[in-house]
Amino acid sequence: MTYAQITGWGKCIPPASISNDEISQIVDTNDEWIASRTGIKSRRVSHVSTADLATAAALDALACAGIEGKDIDLILLATCSPSTMVANTASMVQKNIGAIGAAACDTNAACSGFLYAMQLATAQIRAGMIKRAVVVAAERMTWYVNWAKRDSAVLFGDGAGAVVLEASDEPSGLLASKIGCDTEDRNILHIANCGTDLNKYEPIGPSDLMFEGREIFKRAVKGMSQACDDVLTQANLSLDDIHVLVPHQANLRIIQAIQQKLNIADEKVMVNIDKYGNTSAATIAIALCEAVENGLIKPHANIMSAAFGAGLTWAASYIKWGERVTPINAPSATLPPCDKTGLELIAESVRHCVDQ
Ligand SMILES: CC(C)(COP(=O)(O)OP(=O)(O)OC[C@H]1O[C@@H](n2cnc3c(N)ncnc32)[C@H](O)[C@@H]1OP(=O)(O)O)[C@@H](O)C(=O)NCCC(=O)NCCS
Repeated sequence: MTYAQITGWGKCIPPASISNDEISQIVDTNDEWIASRTGIKSRRVSHVSTADLATAAALDALACAGIEGKDIDLILLATCSPSTMVANTASMVQKNIGAIGAAACDTNAACSGFLYAMQLATAQIRAGMIKRAVVVAAERMTWYVNWAKRDSAVLFGDGAGAVVLEASDEPSGLLASKIGCDTEDRNILHIANCGTDLNKYEPIGPSDLMFEGREIFKRAVKGMSQACDDVLTQANLSLDDIHVLVPHQANLRIIQAIQQKLNIADEKVMVNIDKYGNTSAATIAIALCEAVENGLIKPHANIMSAAFGAGLTWAASYIKWGERVTPINAPSATLPPCDKTGLELIAESVRHCVDQ
């Protein structure tokens, strides 16, 4: 039997950040509200493109695996904030990492995108169609933010994470997975003024993030815990067998509610929403990478992961880690220097939103 082991992991965290106090200069909010209602203290804002973030994360994942771009058969880029839609952004990543001739495809399942892409790439490796894949999730969610709306403006951030999957005889990688979509509720979370449904000859306003936070919150808790239960049954495991939970980072209270439903102890749960906010598809990819770096993921760990996002897509996965928890080559990808603060990077966008 062939499995798709995770042999490399990497991330790209853009340097400029916006603290809660800084965001309180733009919308009517404060650090106490944001931290207590969401767990977020800061978020990153990127000075480079989604393709650049994805490239840096993918290069570090390749270094970690000790292989090069030319060894890769497939690149799946999970993103709902692509640099370009045609040509797809994955093709730019393919070029940047030197994965000459590899298949390159963007997958958009919003916040569930990384787990969707993991399932798609794993299935191809396990079917013997390909040997090695890079699954990368990269987002510039701050590009979408309407800085006049305090409920959503405080939530999102930019960043990228990536893994390398390689064919292996060892039972490891994504061993059970369930992905789905509850489309009836798709309007409670969407980006308006974006896409080919628009009449491109009519003047249209800027794209705008529309959402019903409280409704999404309820559905996220229910959807993710149900999906986790299904995956445990599929894998014939009990919750006691799970060593680490790597949940989508949308709101600390959503994570805690799932944790409570599943009865998982605090020390088993990977949380980094305080530093980055919600980076959509990238949250789980970044959190997975940091969970290995900080020693939460140990050799042969059983990892449960769950996500929820626009669509309303949902996903849960059981991942078995391999033996190695240290990179073969240290991460060394760099971004061009950033000479602006987070507030300076969003200044023009803030001006437009406030003028509306
Ligand atoms: C958005 C979210 C943080 C709001 O938290 P909440 O506890 O549900 O808060 P509510 O929406 O009930 O609002 C409570 C009050 O806080 C106010 N409020 C909303 N945003 C605020 C902010 N940034 N600062 C201060 N007050 C705020 C509301 O206006 C409301 O005031 P009111 O009671 O006077 O009407 C939460 O619902 C959430 O995280 N939802 C899911 C997020 C999501 O969709 N992520 C993307 C997909 S995964």
